[in-house]
Amino acid sequence: MILKSIISCFICLTILFAEAKPPKPTILVTGGGGYIGSHTIVELLNDSYSIVVLDNLSNCYAFNATEKPESLKRVEKLTNKNVVFNNIDIRDEKSLDKVFKTYKIGAVIHFAALKSVSESTRKPVEYYDNNVAGTNTLIQAMQNNKVKKLIYSSSATVYGNPQYLPLTENHPTGQNITNPYGRSKYFTEEILKDLSYADSQWKIILLRYFNPVGAHPSGLIGEDPTGIPNNLMPYLSQVAIGRRDHLKIFGSDYPTPDGTGVRDFIHIIDLASGHLRALKKLMDPEFRGCKAYNLGTGKGYSVLDLVKTFEKVSGRRINYQITDRRRGDLATVYADPNLAEKELKWRAERYIEQMCEDTWRWQMQNPNGYHTDEEESN
Ligand code: NAD
Ligand code: UFG
Repeated sequence: MILKSIISCFICLTILFAEAKPPKPTILVTGGGGYIGSHTIVELLNDSYSIVVLDNLSNCYAFNATEKPESLKRVEKLTNKNVVFNNIDIRDEKSLDKVFKTYKIGAVIHFAALKSVSESTRKPVEYYDNNVAGTNTLIQAMQNNKVKKLIYSSSATVYGNPQYLPLTENHPTGQNITNPYGRSKYFTEEILKDLSYADSQWKIILLRYFNPVGAHPSGLIGEDPTGIPNNLMPYLSQVAIGRRDHLKIFGSDYPTPDGTGVRDFIHIIDLASGHLRALKKLMDPEFRGCKAYNLGTGKGYSVLDLVKTFEKVSGRRINYQITDRRRGDLATVYADPNLAEKELKWRAERYIEQMCEDTWRWQMQNPNGYHTDEEESN
């Protein structure tokens, strides 16, 4: 009898103690309807963060402007949790201010940006306005509302043409960047560094992604490019499913083992979990200033390696043609991921086979991405 009471007392105390744990802060995710944002939100929700998303729907599909993007509806289905959504542009300071006044935001993960390298060469002003001025407006709204913790989606593109490999975070940035998109990432990094020098209360992490590919293993969410894909993996999988006739391989005369470009492909789930680790770092009271981390695997695979692996896992033949090099492309790019391992306690775990398998599952289950109508998604 006494033992029974002691046990039930112990259980009650355990429950009380667990309940007394402070709730995790609410995270504002800009561009959360997009590819990397939606996968990161799954990881954040599974780790008990509350999420507020803002996205202007410029590159994610929603049935109409008042509805949540389809990607976020599926995130809710996957996690059984709710995501608050606001259709807001990051350049709209008044609306941003309202969001900060409505929700108690602990930190911001800033994905929202235009990301097409080729489009940026045709529309440089739009890219600088959206990506650089947009981030400036966001940080002003954060400053006005005393929210000074930020994770910024940067890119390996800030390193320009590698002077050595693997790329470490202290490799020079801003030199020989071949397009306005890349420069918009570099300029924004510089603004954020200046901000942290000027005001020591700011805590900023710059995550430099290498080449994110793959999809959630459920096949429910994945990459859904509008129009003709610019990037290798979505193009490859659309050829495999029969939506495109053949892949053009841009150059086979690079100084690489098989002559095709070499990249550090990283599975989207590894990339997403990197954000979770970065957020933990940002919340650490010891963390100060503005710090950059590479999110890559540290291994390079060629375009032909990826094509062959995709053929193996999908059982489909990929038609391809070797064409001229694409302007601005680099021969070989891969990360040194050791700093993230040491300081964020993060390391990519998934292999190239899994990247292809998960992409293929997403592509088969969603031949037209989030659209139900083929016309619309082409
Ligand atoms: P994405 O286009 O899928 O997602 C970006 C989201 O931001 C979209 O949903 C879009 O509607 C939204 N958005 C764009 N401009 C906005 C604005 N002004 N206001 C509000 N919302 C806006 O792109 P992604 O692949 O998920 O990339 C996310 C971030 O990662 C971007 O900053 C991108 O530059 C960076 N990045 C991506 C890659 C990659 O290969 N995917 C590589 C390196 C860095
Ligand atoms: N490639 C092809 N055919 C295609 C598309 C790409 O052969 O249809 C080749 C490219 O020439 C390159 C490789 O595949 O050798 C990878 O090209 P992607 O366009 O997929 O990716 P990039 O490395 O050019 O750039 C990507 C993102 C950038 C980001 C960069 C970070 O698009 O936003 O990774 O390393 F900055």
